[in-house]
Amino acid sequence: MSTHTEKIIILDFGSQTTQLIARRIREQKVYSEIHPYNLELDRLKAMQPSGIVLSGGPASVYDEDAPISDPGIFELGIPILGICYGAQLMTQQLGGRVEKAVKREFGKANLSIAYTAGIFAGMETAPTTYQVWMSHGDRIEEPAPGFVATATSAHSPYAALRHTDKPFVAVQFHPEVAHTLIGTDILRNFIFGLCGCHPTWTMQSFIDTTVDEIRDRAGSDQVICALSGGVDSSVTAALVHRAIGDQLTCIYVNNGLMRTGESESVLRFFREKTDLRVIDVDATGYFLDQLAGITNPEEKRKRIGYGFIKIFEEEARKLGDVKFLAQGTLYPDVIESVVFRGKAPIKSHHNVGGLPERMQLDLIEPLRELFKDEVRELGLELGLPEEAIFRQPFPGPGLAIRIMGEVTAERLHILRQADVIVLEEMKASGWYRKVWQSFAVLLPTQTVGVMGDSRTYENVIAIRCVDSRDAMTADWSRLPWEILGTISNRIINEVRGVNRVVYDISSKPPATIEWE
Ligand code: XMP
Repeated sequence: MSTHTEKIIILDFGSQTTQLIARRIREQKVYSEIHPYNLELDRLKAMQPSGIVLSGGPASVYDEDAPISDPGIFELGIPILGICYGAQLMTQQLGGRVEKAVKREFGKANLSIAYTAGIFAGMETAPTTYQVWMSHGDRIEEPAPGFVATATSAHSPYAALRHTDKPFVAVQFHPEVAHTLIGTDILRNFIFGLCGCHPTWTMQSFIDTTVDEIRDRAGSDQVICALSGGVDSSVTAALVHRAIGDQLTCIYVNNGLMRTGESESVLRFFREKTDLRVIDVDATGYFLDQLAGITNPEEKRKRIGYGFIKIFEEEARKLGDVKFLAQGTLYPDVIESVVFRGKAPIKSHHNVGGLPERMQLDLIEPLRELFKDEVRELGLELGLPEEAIFRQPFPGPGLAIRIMGEVTAERLHILRQADVIVLEEMKASGWYRKVWQSFAVLLPTQTVGVMGDSRTYENVIAIRCVDSRDAMTADWSRLPWEILGTISNRIINEVRGVNRVVYDISSKPPATIEWE
């Protein structure tokens, strides 16, 4: 898989912040990958990591079914950093003692450093203290033979440890979170100082390596890519195109469920600003027919998904012999995340679900090692303009899942007009890029209003606007009242058929971002 020469492997014990460790390391331009804690020793060795990080996790090392790594990792001569549970596991596996803490430590704590080399190089000893973030109910009572304390906190006599002649270090706190103010310095000291890595993993080096890999893989075969105009498919297409030029054909399907002007602007952009070959298919009528009379959200999604595959398949067949499908799968979709006390499932994710199997296509997924913000950086590096890169996510089923009840041409028209106003006002106020998503939803209900001297009985538009890091959780955005007021006024004044606007103040969970 990855051909990066220097890499740090993170063994995941189920902490909420494991992904952050990988990101913090990558920010230092060193490649880092997450694997389940029970990764086989041979596989780990074959990856030739420059260093290993044992993540935190919710278990206790003394539990009977506590997750443990192969103790052989301590025989490899590779530097190891244990974080929280990882520190406790290292202690226990190497002969120390971990017990339930009398006083648990959650949140900010002050760290006093006793040893200013290794991971604490460049820092100062007491009386200087450093703010760190703790989250543990167990603590190290007796270090393993060969280990000494390098830092303490009020409730942790062994807040940090080092082995005196092996490259093993451990911290009870979480260096990967922002509340640990010296966290980045600690990780830098580990990867550059102890592991001897170099900051060579840049977007340019990623492009070079990946372009070579795609060329090798594709040979002289044809590749297709479903282009939606979203960030992931756009960057995928640009990268694959950089590798194999016209062996790539992109297919854009207008399902008639896009925002106002979206199809035109996506196609204009790719045709005028890039050399990509893009086939566009106008399937507006087909999708509306498929959705006629359908009100069940799942049924809508199913029909749209099926229609998409059908059209894509037809277009690909016209192209002749296609061997590969390029797809913008991202790293969070492929990480084998550890579910505590469960098996480690691999989340399967297909942007064009069902298509590879049906058409017997092999997948090219050049973004599968990247996080979303890295994909954006890559897109900019590939020369895609900011307006293509910093777009809010838009769901595959489009406006169909933002129209509660039946999707008709008239209701699409109402929603589109409201949606444009939301977008315009979010952009004009500078809020568009501050939030994860902002959009309008058309409700299946009418309410009474009064316009001029007459009573009205018309539609309700809900505004959904959320903050999120990764769409797994989200909170409603605290938009200034003035912006909400302007949006509401404009929608009611400008969109025929709407007499009421409401703001959705639900978080995810328990609600979701989209309404269907
Ligand atoms: P939910 O509604 O599940 O949405 O909280 C999470 C994120 O995923 C987007 N979304 C989709 N994206 N196809 C997509 O490509 C879909 O079917 C789909 N459904 C939801 C949603 O916009 C949000 O960013």
